[in-house]
Amino acid sequence: MPERERVPRHAATETSVSEQTGVLISLEGGDGCGKSTQAALLCERLAACGLPVGPSSDQGAVIREPGGTAAGEAIRDVLLHGPQTLAPWAEALLYAAARAELVERVLLPELRAGRVLILDRFVDSSLAYQGFARGLGIDAVLAVNQPGLRGLLPDLTIVLDVDPLVGLARTGGAPDRIEAEGLDLQQRVAAGFAVVARRFPERVRLIDGSRDIDIVAAAVVAAALEAVADVGLRLGG
Ligand SMILES: Nc1ncnc2c1ncn2[C@@H]1O[C@H](COP(=O)(O)OP(=O)(O)O)[C@@H](O)[C@H]1O
Ligand SMILES: [Mg+2]
Repeated sequence: MPERERVPRHAATETSVSEQTGVLISLEGGDGCGKSTQAALLCERLAACGLPVGPSSDQGAVIREPGGTAAGEAIRDVLLHGPQTLAPWAEALLYAAARAELVERVLLPELRAGRVLILDRFVDSSLAYQGFARGLGIDAVLAVNQPGLRGLLPDLTIVLDVDPLVGLARTGGAPDRIEAEGLDLQQRVAAGFAVVARRFPERVRLIDGSRDIDIVAAAVVAAALEAVADVGLRLGG
């Protein structure tokens, strides 16, 4: 299929990102579901197919959220390692601010350059955590993210579906601020992702993340290649 100009199929607003020719894929799910593991494997395997994966300045790299820019990493530090108490809306707006920086400085230019970008979390984490689990409302949290998204939503969002108990048991080391809240939050987050998946069926795929890493990876890569083909990039460059 030839490369083509397109308006993103799942545009969040009317804002035009019409010269976008790249592909945006986000990995989502609760803590310990395997996002970082699968994002790294996906980058490797898509690059092995000859696709232009990751930002041009950092080829083959996963983009993590919050983060991916200097200001975004500083905001990440407040969110994940800052004071335990943070008003829910302050938390939601900090995530939205880090995301706005990432969209402007990295995602839009790299997608315009035709790159295939793999995100370790994106706006759906805000919808599930702040919108649903913290009770701010999925619509309200989406609304504050819209200006910073500039019309951008992923072409494909993979939610790794894992029992929150299993996910939490997988996380090791010192817990970050969110992980430290434990099972109760993670159960609400899992319910939140289920709502998000039903709400955006055209771009969200649930994949059973409780299986062996390689089996999950095969399913993730297959879904990603479908999305790439859909967007019209040529395999093998
Ligand atoms: N399918 C799996 N089965 C068993 N362990 C896994 C699986 N996927 C990831 N892990 C392990 O679980 C831990 C958390 O995985 P990670 O990818 O960091 O999750 P996340 O980024 O979603 O928090 C890591 O130690 C990882 O090696
Ligand atoms: Mg991770």
